[in-house]
Amino acid sequence: MNADQMPWLGKFCLYLAPMAGVTDPIFRALCKEEGADVLETEFVSAAGVLQAWERTRRYVQLTDGQRPVGVQIFGAEPGQMAAAARIIVDAVHPDFIDINAGCPVPKVVGRNGGASLMKDLPLLERIARAVVQELVEDCPVTAKIRSGWDADSICAVEACMRLENAGVHAITVHGRTRSQQYSGTADWNIIHSCARSVRIPIIGNGDLRKPEDILRERDKGIVAGVMIGRAAMSSPWIFDRARHLLDTGELLPEPTPQEKLDLTLHCVRSTLDSGHYGDEHTTMRALRARILSLTKGIPGTKERRPALARVSSWIELQEILRSLG
Ligand SMILES: Cc1cc2nc3c(=O)[nH]c(=O)nc-3n(C[C@H](O)[C@H](O)[C@H](O)COP(=O)(O)O)c2cc1C
Repeated sequence: MNADQMPWLGKFCLYLAPMAGVTDPIFRALCKEEGADVLETEFVSAAGVLQAWERTRRYVQLTDGQRPVGVQIFGAEPGQMAAAARIIVDAVHPDFIDINAGCPVPKVVGRNGGASLMKDLPLLERIARAVVQELVEDCPVTAKIRSGWDADSICAVEACMRLENAGVHAITVHGRTRSQQYSGTADWNIIHSCARSVRIPIIGNGDLRKPEDILRERDKGIVAGVMIGRAAMSSPWIFDRARHLLDTGELLPEPTPQEKLDLTLHCVRSTLDSGHYGDEHTTMRALRARILSLTKGIPGTKERRPALARVSSWIELQEILRSLG
């Protein structure tokens, strides 16, 4: 691998976090329009790629307008992870493959994948080495880790050193343990310790809610970039506002309520048109949480939340949102 394969690493980039059920192709496109520099798919299971590629493929469908974009995979078996990475790279040519070592959900850790790799760093290293060796010059490999399994086993620094040793090109560190899931606060001291312990770029992740949080991290000059998850779900415009603040020192106002409503409708309409989730009813059900996130805080939505939580057609959504505008 040479530096030309991941040229964006030379700049302080704003990454959209991989989020299962959220970062589908349409939401990724929206975040790109709103200024995200680097995107990532939701995770896909290596076993799923190997056993049911046609069904899994839609989760990793990429478009050139979204590049650079990575595909995230999870699993616990080095050979399987390498074989799945090869299939994905040959089929959709991502800009990087990301190894998930952070997912806390029982379905994933129960099969020794995701965050459970933080309990077995030699296995994490073997997985990383197998994927790197499989892809060699074809595609760079990154990893996303947590600070550790629990408060008694903080091991992110050792994990980063092992991953660097295995040939991984960059690492995102979410400053929470698996036990914390998404509670408490992210520990940025651990993220900084990781960045100081390895030569490869470390991307910091956890609790960046406002453009000012991102400016603060950029100005410390320790991490190579930042990854934004939940703030992007409710405020995808955070990317543009953060970039403007980083470049000019000026904090732009939030979009107006009407602009937020327009963006919500644009997101839902684009998702319906894409057919990604199937028919209208299935799509509206899949998008309810997103609609609630995007409209949170808009005057009048509080009273409409029960209706938005049940919305099942495009016409119904338009009627509810029009009554706010
Ligand atoms: C709904 C949801 C789904 C997520 N899915 C994934 C995933 O597929 N892969 C992953 O590495 N992390 C996943 N995460 C974790 C995020 O990528 C991120 O690390 C976490 O939300 C912390 O960042 P934040 O404080 O900016 O939200 C998910 C988080 C949420 C809220």
